[in-house]
Amino acid sequence: MTILVMGATGAQGGAVARRLVAEGHSVRGFGRSGEVPAGVEPVTGPLEAALDGVSHVSLVLPMLLERAEVDRWVEIVAGSGVRRVVFNTANRIPPAATDVALFESRRAASDALLASGVPTVVLRPPVYLDNLRAPWVAGRLAAERVLSYPLPADLPVAWISHDDLAAATVAALTRDGLEDDVLDIGGPASLTGPQLAAAFGATYEAQDVAAFQEGLTHAFGPEVASVVAATYHWLAKHGGDLYETDPTAAERLGIRFTPVHEWIAA
Ligand SMILES: NC(=O)c1ccc[n+]([C@@H]2O[C@H](COP(=O)([O-])OP(=O)(O)OC[C@H]3O[C@@H](n4cnc5c(N)ncnc54)[C@H](OP(=O)(O)O)[C@@H]3O)[C@@H](O)[C@H]2O)c1
Repeated sequence: MTILVMGATGAQGGAVARRLVAEGHSVRGFGRSGEVPAGVEPVTGPLEAALDGVSHVSLVLPMLLERAEVDRWVEIVAGSGVRRVVFNTANRIPPAATDVALFESRRAASDALLASGVPTVVLRPPVYLDNLRAPWVAGRLAAERVLSYPLPADLPVAWISHDDLAAATVAALTRDGLEDDVLDIGGPASLTGPQLAAAFGATYEAQDVAAFQEGLTHAFGPEVASVVAATYHWLAKHGGDLYETDPTAAERLGIRFTPVHEWIAA
């Protein structure tokens, strides 16, 4: 079994690649820089060549990949003859169509993979605990005991770590009986903003999404800022139960998701 981990030079794919290597798998890591975790064979493209001899694929799509390129990657993976694809949508997907490009391109990619005939497992995490390590979140948390994040205070969120995403991905790649499942993965409990902040001994502040977008513009430029902020603008208006925990996912995968207080203590 040779596994191609797409995005292995990034945060999510990197966590998946490290876990697969630790479990003794043969791992090839796709990304432009080639800076993959230790023990991973770097491949920088083209994608068709990277898939040669591969039996399993862990797929996460880069944020700024053009929609036509997303469709092309999915077509190449689906046509490659691999035995299983695990697609991390890197967000939950709202049940009905939206005007948010990230949601809709991931919805289309999921639908195309599931319809392709290649055994596919779709993993849909909500929001990553690792996002809280960003300097603009971690800084105020440490200095003022204020957890400021651009999600409504009353939105219940099953926060998940990259490590647990990696555990879910390895299970989805290797466990029998999961083919063509769509799993809303996430932590074992949904926490409101104040509940999350309390776990850090802090108070919660629902950051204004426009201010969040402005900060991202300074850090990463307007394109990244507008793509990311579009999801948070949508959540502020329509979040509902989109980010709630689904206990059936842990059962189906045969894993335990880490409670937030354990992640903080680790
Ligand atoms: N739910 C959440 O909390 C959350 C948080 C963050 C991100 N996300 C989502 O996660 C997804 C990935 O986010 P990200 O891009 O910020 O992750 P990232 O950690 O920056 O990783 C992106 C990966 O894709 C690779 N990549 C980028 N462009 C590529 C290209 N044109 N060809 C080949 N490889 C390419 C990068 O390789 P190189 O670096 O080597 O070029 C890297 O390995 C996005 O959908 C994003 O919206 C979700």
